[in-house]
Parts: sequence; structure tokens; C-alpha cells
Amino acid sequence: MRKTISFLFLLALCSTRCFAVEGMWLPQLLQALNEKDMKKAGMKISAADIYSINKSSLKDAIVSLGGFCTAEVISDKGLILTNHHCGFDAIQNHSSLTSNYIKDGFWAYNKDQELTNPGLTASFVIRIEEVTKAVLEGVTAAMNERERQSQADKNINGLKSTAKKEAWQDILIRPMFDGNKYFLFVTETYKDVRLVGAPPAAIGNFGKDTDNWMWPRHTGDFSMFRIYMGKDGRPAEYAADNVPYQPKRALKISLRGLKPGDFTMVMGFPGRTNEYLYSKAVQQIMDVLDPAKIGIREKALHILDGFMRRDEGIKIQYAAKYASIENAYKKWKGEVLGLKSKDAVGRKKAVESAFEKIVLSKSEQNIGYVNLLKNLEQAYTAIEPYAYARDYYNEISQKIEVFAIASQLSNLPRAIQKNGEGAFPALLAQAQAAADAFFKEYNATVDQKLMEVLMAMYVKDQPAANVSPYYKNLLAQHDNDHAKVAAALFSQSRLISPERVKTLLQGDAKTVSAAIMNDPALQLAADMQQAYLTNAGTKLAELQTNLNRLQRTYMQAQMDVFSSKTFYPDANSTLRLTYGNVKPYTPRDGVQYDCYTYLDGVMEKYKPGDYEFDVPAKLIELYNKKDFGAYGANGRQPVCFIASNHTTGGNSGSPALDANGNLVGLNFDRVWEGTMSDINYDPDICRNIMVDIRYVLFIVDKFAGAKNLIAEMTIVK
Ligand code: ARG
Ligand code: ASP
Repeated sequence: MRKTISFLFLLALCSTRCFAVEGMWLPQLLQALNEKDMKKAGMKISAADIYSINKSSLKDAIVSLGGFCTAEVISDKGLILTNHHCGFDAIQNHSSLTSNYIKDGFWAYNKDQELTNPGLTASFVIRIEEVTKAVLEGVTAAMNERERQSQADKNINGLKSTAKKEAWQDILIRPMFDGNKYFLFVTETYKDVRLVGAPPAAIGNFGKDTDNWMWPRHTGDFSMFRIYMGKDGRPAEYAADNVPYQPKRALKISLRGLKPGDFTMVMGFPGRTNEYLYSKAVQQIMDVLDPAKIGIREKALHILDGFMRRDEGIKIQYAAKYASIENAYKKWKGEVLGLKSKDAVGRKKAVESAFEKIVLSKSEQNIGYVNLLKNLEQAYTAIEPYAYARDYYNEISQKIEVFAIASQLSNLPRAIQKNGEGAFPALLAQAQAAADAFFKEYNATVDQKLMEVLMAMYVKDQPAANVSPYYKNLLAQHDNDHAKVAAALFSQSRLISPERVKTLLQGDAKTVSAAIMNDPALQLAADMQQAYLTNAGTKLAELQTNLNRLQRTYMQAQMDVFSSKTFYPDANSTLRLTYGNVKPYTPRDGVQYDCYTYLDGVMEKYKPGDYEFDVPAKLIELYNKKDFGAYGANGRQPVCFIASNHTTGGNSGSPALDANGNLVGLNFDRVWEGTMSDINYDPDICRNIMVDIRYVLFIVDKFAGAKNLIAEMTIVK
């Protein structure tokens, strides 16, 4: 920082670090922006070893798995490693009562035993280029947002058709820095991805919801797949005679382990962050939006938990739903906690006052920014009630499950209206299939209780004008008693059991369409949606358009005004690299957490027969014999570790690499106190959690005996 700026601003931007820990960097810019800093942090390789278009580099081993997780290539036969929770759908789909791979794990001891997963894809990034000029060609300041977008879309389409690529490759163009810059990605997507291995959930998801988002952690959160390609070496749809993918690069594995202070980096596809918000936006998330969502989920989880504890069948049916509702719920709670404890709003305000000072002192250059903060303040104040209505409506309507099947079945009358009755038999089959899938994980008693409790919140916690008139009417008819409304609706609706749906789907196209549209559950869902759109949604969209423009200006303004700071774009599911050090942390006064956990900790948490903390007998046996093979360290088996890498959702399954670029771990979570890193990264308490590669290989080798897989890997001494 050569500029003479306020002490507070220095404090806000630089914190305690000697190199920049915060950041999710674009790999093609590492050489220009980060290489020096990374070497200072301990990196031994060069930026060109990570990203190069002239030779194979680490980026060639990084996979976007299905667009929702990251994976990495670990053998020259296309073997890839990701998290257990990333592979969970595939594992679940192949599971049955007789071969329960969730409970028992799954291992392919030869390629014939691998299992296909239609729809699962693996994508590589071939090349990244900045295309801002071409995308914004013809865009003028006088254009409104819609005009700007349509001009940009036209340019993007042009670029997509002219950019250099092979026939089997794709072009993606993504806005960065809130639309101030654009980058082009040439990608290659493989569509034959087979399941190779997964530990039992008692290892892969050890600690479940209780340990989720927490440190110390003892989860072996990994699974393995293999990418296949056509015989011509190109991406291909599934075919029995496809051959294992030959990668440009497979990661080498180091069993040396890291120690506190060691350099580490994580490469992957982080989903979404908001690091450049105005203070009022942060305060809104912390005080209004997160608490609203937390409150709704708390009630929903409480209901589910009650039923799941009483009924084993419901427990199985609702396990995945519960985990997914709980995952975001717990994250938001940690986020609020961290934003408060680190005074994120105060810090943003300090940055804003420094911003204001510089803007006013150099008003000719920054004339356009003079009223910016005031406008942001106004825009966020104006949008607050509408944003709250959006979150309230979304959360509640998504938790009442019958609304989901109502929405799916409403496709049938809509499609018939649009395309005529010819498609009726096909639509009927589709509707039946949707219902079959839905009822596998559905219990009407649970859902009726959800409706009763959540609709009471829907009415109580919102202005009366936002409430659906249809529901108000039902309430008036039933003594203002939500329980009676829910009971009446569930006794009348034909969407709440497979038997009733069967009768609903009987008759000709007109009869079936009318029966669906007139169902009271569908009527309620539709009216709630209408009430939301009329009273909030439409206005919200208009305010949001204005805010997007302001936020884009504010992003550019921050880059102009703080010109000596190096900026990274918010995460948007594109390939990024983040680096830091293995590092302990102090979540609160008097408490310090270590960097590593060991198998001893698994045994400390062990509760025989428990849903979350049971341990497989074979693992106990290996532990008692201390049979850790090459994977132990000083007589103990390392399990997980933490570092200061800046990660988010989507980074799950990302490789943790050491200073030489060797694989040392697998990213899967963050610590609870630091989940606010999506909004305000703090080097003191933000840590990513990784499973040590030595635990992964110990399980593959010693627990599962899958030496065939170990033999494929390259382990560096
Ligand atoms: N919290 C991690 C993430 O956001 C892991 C979630 C999966 N594990 C679980 N117990 N639900 O995805
Ligand atoms: N668990 C997250 C994921 O699935 C990672 C995170 O949010 O830190 O991507």
C-alpha cells in the first residue's frame, strides 16, 4: 500500500496477514497477479505448472462434476476422486435392500464391476480468455439494463460461433465482477462416468448432521468414479465398449502429510460468493433474511426430527431431505454468528468511509461515484420488505411437500392446453412417473403437520396484504385454526397418496386436467404464488434490476478507487484456485483448535448402534491392531485437517495440493464459525476442512482391500 490512506482502511483490507489469504483466483491470471505472493506463502512450483495452454498443467486434472461439485483425476486410466456427499446420489441410486451401498459401501475390484450413472458428467477446462471488450461492444451508458443485456447476449452468441475450438468442445462465457468483465471458457465434457468406490456412510458421512460444518471433524468424505471416453478418444455417451479416459494430467499423491504453517492450495469450482456488498446488504442478510430462513427451517426440522425419532420408516424416507434442509440451516446460523462476532458491517462501513474520502478528494476522476453509497443505501432499504417476502415465500412453499407434486402435475394440463390432447398418453405416463418418485420419500402425516405449522408462520410473520386470499378464506371457514385447515385440505386433496393420485389420473384428457387444476392443494399453491408475485415478486424484480446496475457500478468503483488492491471476482461456478496455510484457529476466548484429527478421535466419538456415530467393525479392528500400513504417521492414523484456503459450496471434492502440487487431501467443508466467508472472509476464523489423503488411501487399501485402485495411482516418495 503506497497510498496514504486511513489506518482503519489499512486494517480492514490487510488485517493480520503477510500475504493475501482471501481470494478465489482465476488460474490464467495467477502468473500476473499471484505467483510472487504464492511463493512468499511457500509454493515451490510456478504459475505455469498450474495453468498453461502450451503444456499439461494441474488444471488438466481438475473436473467439474455434474456442475455441482469438484473432482480430480488421480490415475492415467481416468480414475477420479470426489466427496462421498458429491457421489451420494449415484451411490443411493445403485442401492437396494439387498445391496445397500450406502450402508455397506461399494468397491469395484475390476472395471467390469463399475456402475454407470446416466446424466452424470465430468468437464475439463481447456482454455480461459478475457472477452470483455467483445461482449460489451456497442453497449453504452445510456442503455437500460434490458438493452445492455440484449446487446451483450448478441455479442456472446457471436463469440460462441466464432471462437476457436474443436468440434467436441463447448464455449461458456461468464460475467465476472458483477458484469464489468467477461471471460470465455473452452470446456470438454465426458458423459460416461462410472461409480468405482465408496466407503460405508459410517465412514463417508461419519458424524452426519451433528458434525456437519464443525471442527474437529472425523469424516472420510470421499468416493471414486472413472471417466470413460469413446474409442476415438473423444467424449461419448455411455457405451459398453467405451474405454477409460486418458488424461492430459493425473495428480501425484504425497503421503508425507502437512504440518501447521505449510503451504496448501485448493483448485475447483466454487459456486457463489458475495464479497463486495454494500454494508446495508450485509446487515440485511444478518438481521433480516438469514434469520427469516433460519426460523422457518428450525420449525420444519423440529417437525421432521420428531417423526423420524418415532418411526424407523420415516427416518429412512426423510434422511436425505432432513440433511439438505439442515445443511443450509446450519450454515446460515454460523454465517450470522461470524458476521456478528467479526463486526462485518462495521468493517464494511470503515471501507466505505475510506472509499468516500478518496472519491471526494479526487472528484474529477470519480465524479460518477459521488452519490453511489447514498443510492445503494436507498436501494437496499427499498428492497428489504420484498426480499423478505421472497425468502419467506420460497422457504415455506418449498418445505410443504405436496406443493412440489402439485407443481409437477400441473405440467399436464398446461402442456395439453399448449400442444393439444395428442400428447396425453405420454404426459400421463410422465405424471405417473413423477408421482411414483415423489411418494417414495413422502409421508402425508408429516406433510400435514408441516403445512399446519408453516402456514401459521406464513400468516403471522408477514403483512396481511402478502397472504394468499384463498388461504385467508380457508382460515375463515375453519375457526381461524391452521390445524383444521391442514386437516381439511389433506382429507380433500387427491395429491397426498399414490392411491389418490391413481384415481386423479383416471379419465380422458379433459377430466384429468380439470381434476388436477381443481385440487385444493394445487389451488392453494397457485394462489400463494399469485399473491407473492402481485404483492412482492414483480416489484422485487424491478428493484433488483436497479440494484444490479448499482452493484456493478460499485464493483467497478471499488476497483478504481482502491487501485493498489488486487481484486478477485466473486465465485460463479468457474474454475478457481485459492491458497493458504495449514493453520489452527481460535473460535472464541480461551479455545484453540488444532489443525489435525486422528482415528483416535473417531473412536472417542464412537457410539455403538448410533445413527450418526457408529463405526464399522473392520475399522475398529484396524484401529486396535494399529494396522495403518504406509498411511499412518508416528503410530497414528491422520483423518482430517484444516487450512486458511478460501472455499465455498461447489469446492466440495476439490483437491488440496501441497507446495509441489501433489495431492495431500480432499476438500469437503468449512468450520462453523467461518461460514460467513461467502460474504466476509476473515483470516482469523475462516478455515476449510479436508480429509487427509492418507485416510482416503488407508480406507481404500486396508479397509476395502481395493489394491487394484492403489496400483493405478502415482505415489511420490
Ligand atoms: N457442509 C458441507 C457442504 O456444504 C457438507 C454437507 C454434506 N454432509 C452432511 N452431513 N449433510 O456441502
Ligand atoms: N460442503 C460444501 C460443498 O459441498 C463446501 C463448503 O461449503 O465449504 O461444496
